[in-house]
Amino acid sequence: MKLIMYSVRDAEKPYVEAWAKKTGNDVKMVTKPLNADTVKLAEGYDGVSLQQTTKLGDKKLYEQLAAMGIKQLAARMVGIDIFDLDACKENGIIVTNVPVYSPRAIAEMGVAQAMYLLRRIGEFEQRMSHGDFRWSDDLISNEIYNLTVGIVGLGNIGGATAQIYKALGAKVLAYDPSSNVEYEPYVEYTDFDTVVKNADILSLHTPLLPSTENMIAAPQFRMMKDSAYLINMARGKLVNTADLIFALENKEIAGAGLDTLADETSFFSKKVTPDQIPDDYKKLVAMPNVLVTPHVAFLTETSIRNMVEISLNDAVTILEGKHSRNEIRM
Ligand code: COI
Repeated sequence: MKLIMYSVRDAEKPYVEAWAKKTGNDVKMVTKPLNADTVKLAEGYDGVSLQQTTKLGDKKLYEQLAAMGIKQLAARMVGIDIFDLDACKENGIIVTNVPVYSPRAIAEMGVAQAMYLLRRIGEFEQRMSHGDFRWSDDLISNEIYNLTVGIVGLGNIGGATAQIYKALGAKVLAYDPSSNVEYEPYVEYTDFDTVVKNADILSLHTPLLPSTENMIAAPQFRMMKDSAYLINMARGKLVNTADLIFALENKEIAGAGLDTLADETSFFSKKVTPDQIPDDYKKLVAMPNVLVTPHVAFLTETSIRNMVEISLNDAVTILEGKHSRNEIRM
């Protein structure tokens, strides 16, 4: 098979080359994402692999792909919110994702951010940068085994997160519309509002869907404990950014750890000038009780290898007319 792979980073190349050699397939690697300008590059290829957070919202792009004979899109990621799945279906394009490349990678980043915030490290750093090495009563914190963690979305990543917090001795509450028996030993299932109200650390691990967009907004911030931390390693649009900034400024919550932002596609994974950085981001990073990372929770060697190998294997499986368990139901 001849495959084209969009948004390829240097770290992926050795895995792609090894896979191509082992399987006897031909892979063209391009660094640009798939979009209206680059779709033409897929001409002459059998299949496509991609990884990006920029939405593929224009139906014409799917028509162009179908006209070139492209029958599948293999996403090297978990999230599939970039796709117009109706347009995929209309054009006979099957989408696959990689739901389990390394749930622990993302879970551990969320826990690391929670610990950083809980132990007030940013606040100490800010004081020390002004020559103030004192500690004061307002920076006294708490141990995780004394806390309640709320997990919203108990899939692979939420489940891995629950396991870590449980091992640290926390009480773990979880909300998920569908229950997952695998994680039952680690959590107490409850409703969304109970999780939001009781969590000292509220950790989001749900996909971005019309029903989950802005699921954490003003009413939820008012419900949360004023000592609680919000951790979002999933998708920026799960949280209403303006309401988050208001909640932080008005001390409705204690802080936030964010690996994703609603408007991240304009600047995350790019080198930009200060005027290209959105004001929301500037306000958030200026707060010592907020930690922002540029959508890198996935960034471990295990993840990169699995994203490459699983997505390329799926591309070939679909092109051979077989089914993959990573096919998205449309
Ligand atoms: C995912 O796998 O869905 C991610 O968020 C990471 C990816 C965009 C590199």
